[in-house]
Amino acid sequence: MNRGTAAQTIARRFSELRGEMDRYVIGHDTVKTGLLLGLLAREHIYIEGPPGMAKTMLAEIVSAASNLKFYLYQFHRDTRLAELVGDVVIERERSNKDSGTEIIVQSIRKGGVLTAELCVLDDISRSPGEALNVLLRVLNERQFQTEKIPLLAAIATSNPTADDYYNEPLDPANLDRFTIQIRSAGLIQENKWDQVREVIDLYSNSQFSEEVRPEAILDRGVFDQAYELMHEVQVPEIVKRGLVDLLSRLVNQFKLDPTNSLITDRSFLVKTLKILKAKTLLEGRMQVVPDDLSVLTFLTAFRVPEEIHRNMPALVRETVQRVAE
Ligand SMILES: Nc1ncnc2c1ncn2[C@@H]1O[C@H](COP(=O)(O)OP(=O)(O)O)[C@@H](O)[C@H]1O
Ligand SMILES: [Mg+2]
Repeated sequence: MNRGTAAQTIARRFSELRGEMDRYVIGHDTVKTGLLLGLLAREHIYIEGPPGMAKTMLAEIVSAASNLKFYLYQFHRDTRLAELVGDVVIERERSNKDSGTEIIVQSIRKGGVLTAELCVLDDISRSPGEALNVLLRVLNERQFQTEKIPLLAAIATSNPTADDYYNEPLDPANLDRFTIQIRSAGLIQENKWDQVREVIDLYSNSQFSEEVRPEAILDRGVFDQAYELMHEVQVPEIVKRGLVDLLSRLVNQFKLDPTNSLITDRSFLVKTLKILKAKTLLEGRMQVVPDDLSVLTFLTAFRVPEEIHRNMPALVRETVQRVAE
């Protein structure tokens, strides 16, 4: 199979996963695309939005339909690290065969985040800091103590922290470990009345059960093929120039600096290239085009001031025009 055909096959398989999300959840295009990008590129995903907008539901659909070894953890105020990394096993052991004295030993049987290929960290901002710091380091290094973990990607969800008494915002350095970042809102609050109507129709249908049973659409083999092929996606000169143009405008014209933003070389040079390639492949192509620079909006939600994030699509359009001239 040539690369072009292989790319189209991957695109088709991932669009089936998209179809499974569309079957149960109306709208939320950005969230759905962000999930596909993160899964394909093996980058962590952070989704922030108000309660009841189907964050957990989307994460669960993706998990079930991906057919990966998955782990869902619901954070609470007393979350402890041990719960996330497996089961604490308490065993009786004879310390001395002759005397028959027993001692109780406690060990951790590895599980949770340490053995999953995909994990959902639900309502992550409810977590106390100590558990979170260790967890996020593990996610970032994909390693626990000295052992590699099999994790492809983590999906974290959170309610907006500003107006929730129980939540504490993740600090920017921790948030930065999630390459893909999405700020979303509910359909009603976003005035999306056509989609509101679709949800009403969906739940009016007596055949439709609130119980979601996604089908297993993908498997580990597809993820491996996709990841391998992604590395062969070509990035032409015009896209490279576009990225430099865009970044330099953010810094020089819009005055982004460490006091108001988190524009790291890692995220905006290394990770951006991965996400660009993932988008290209999701569309069945093997070559990035300037318009693909729109994926930068998946990185900017919490790394730049809100008004600049909102302005990103326009900025990308201008850059695309400038490099074409
Ligand atoms: N856009 C939507 N399309 C279909 N169902 C929706 C949508 N938004 C909300 N719902 C319904 O509301 C529920 C929201 O639940 P949940 O996923 O727990 O939200 P969250 O995790 O964002 O608080 C879903 O289970 C679904 O039944
Ligand atoms: Mg939820």
